[in-house]
Amino acid sequence: MNSDLATRRLHAAAAEAAQCTRCPLYRDATQVVFGEGPVGAPLMFVGEQPGDKEDRDGRPFVGPAGRILDAALAEIGLDRGAAYVTNAVKHFKYEPRGKLRLHKQPNRGEVQACRWWLDRELALVQPKLVVALGVTAARALLDRAVVLSRLRGQSLELTGGQHLIVTVHPSAILRMRDEDERHDAFRGFVDDIRFAAKLAKAA
Ligand code: URA
Repeated sequence: MNSDLATRRLHAAAAEAAQCTRCPLYRDATQVVFGEGPVGAPLMFVGEQPGDKEDRDGRPFVGPAGRILDAALAEIGLDRGAAYVTNAVKHFKYEPRGKLRLHKQPNRGEVQACRWWLDRELALVQPKLVVALGVTAARALLDRAVVLSRLRGQSLELTGGQHLIVTVHPSAILRMRDEDERHDAFRGFVDDIRFAAKLAKAA
């Protein structure tokens, strides 16, 4: 498929996803947060689900976790606009707590229901390499239970033939209270993304 047609189909999928009722999460979220980036992007980053800021803005990884991702991309000189960034689940799942909306992990059914959209993104963007950010994304992509520490650092393969690298979710780095620990975790995250970019180049 040529890239103009794939781009039109991707936009059509995003418009269709905006009306999605495949799982109950659409009821409480502000809007669908579809992926963004160009068709043919060599790298696709897949997070868990939009956070509070993403839910309000309608764009993936624009909140605190996105700042960690951007910082890691800047470290290796990778332009975020050249990558495709999305999530395993496209609606924000949360628990209201006073004025706050606290992140709640999506369940298996919600992840599976949303795989429909992730599959469309994979088929149309055709990335050379997919980076799963955290365990929910890894589970969604591999369609099985995973232990992140066992898969980290390996080059895996998806059924569509793309390479897959599994790394930590940027929010896990943000949650670390100890500064040295947080610094080391960020360095490890940068190394994983550098490895992914190198594999994508060679693919
Ligand atoms: N966390 C995610 O997994 N995705 C986002 O888009 C934002 C935070």
